[in-house]
Amino acid sequence: MNPNKALWEKGDFTRIAETMRESGQALVAPLGVAPGMRVLDLGCGDGTTAIPAARLGADVLGVDIARNLVEAGNRRARGLGLSNCTFQEGDASNLEGLADSSFDLVVSIFGAMFAPRPMDVAREMVRVTRPGGRIVMGNWIPDDPTLVAQILKVSSAYSPPPPDGFVSPMTWGLESEVTGRFGAAGVPRERISFSRQTYTFSHPGPAPSLVDAFRLFYGPTMNAFEAAQKDGRDKALHEELNSLFESQNRSADRNATSIPATFLQVTVSVA
Ligand SMILES: C[S@@+](CC[C@H](N)C(=O)[O-])C[C@H]1O[C@@H](n2cnc3c(N)ncnc32)[C@H](O)[C@@H]1O
Repeated sequence: MNPNKALWEKGDFTRIAETMRESGQALVAPLGVAPGMRVLDLGCGDGTTAIPAARLGADVLGVDIARNLVEAGNRRARGLGLSNCTFQEGDASNLEGLADSSFDLVVSIFGAMFAPRPMDVAREMVRVTRPGGRIVMGNWIPDDPTLVAQILKVSSAYSPPPPDGFVSPMTWGLESEVTGRFGAAGVPRERISFSRQTYTFSHPGPAPSLVDAFRLFYGPTMNAFEAAQKDGRDKALHEELNSLFESQNRSADRNATSIPATFLQVTVSVA
């Protein structure tokens, strides 16, 4: 089985996505989504950004490699009566079946960054966007001091080294890499803009219970715990993550968690 697919089907990202809904909606609000627009959400999960875009009236297609998340997205859309929002399985590295120039807006929030072959991902995103359309990506930033970069950094210290030739998803958080990838897909530097933005993880329980959600449901963290367990280091990993989450929790209520995390927002104007 494709290891990228296996990683995301292993857990249940819906349990983490539940903590990210408000930020998903806030991200979509200023994007100018309007009725009749065709929007593609790549690596959409269960629709944290796809569903707000559909609520603004766009025709939204969510594409994700994980079958369980596609099913969860379709269930959410049905439950909300959104007939203009559908989810299907697909790989951001190869969007076969999606026509050239068929979307006004391609959104990928912490999604396509996890696909292998980043050059192919950039080329595919550009290919399916119509001239005059936009691509908006949200990418975690390597070595950033905030939550997600730190979870991935801590986790990698407990995991075996990646295979030769592995390109870290976090390289999508480096402006020079992003410009190089879209440049190779034919987009000049002046059509790409960057800003630093914040996503907040909001959880109705204390910080260690959010760590537990990552341990039980977030594929990359599940893998780190499995590797750490083999070395007898799972308790150390748990403690390290607990102290990370506790130190980043900004909630005034000790029984709730609110953790802001910085990401790189990339906007590409396709000519
Ligand atoms: C961190 S989650 C983010 C999900 C969603 N965008 C959100 O904001 O809640 C990463 C998502 O990327 C998806 N993904 C990973 N590799 C992918 C690929 N090659 N093609 C499409 N989706 C992929 C995963 O299945 C997962 O749903």
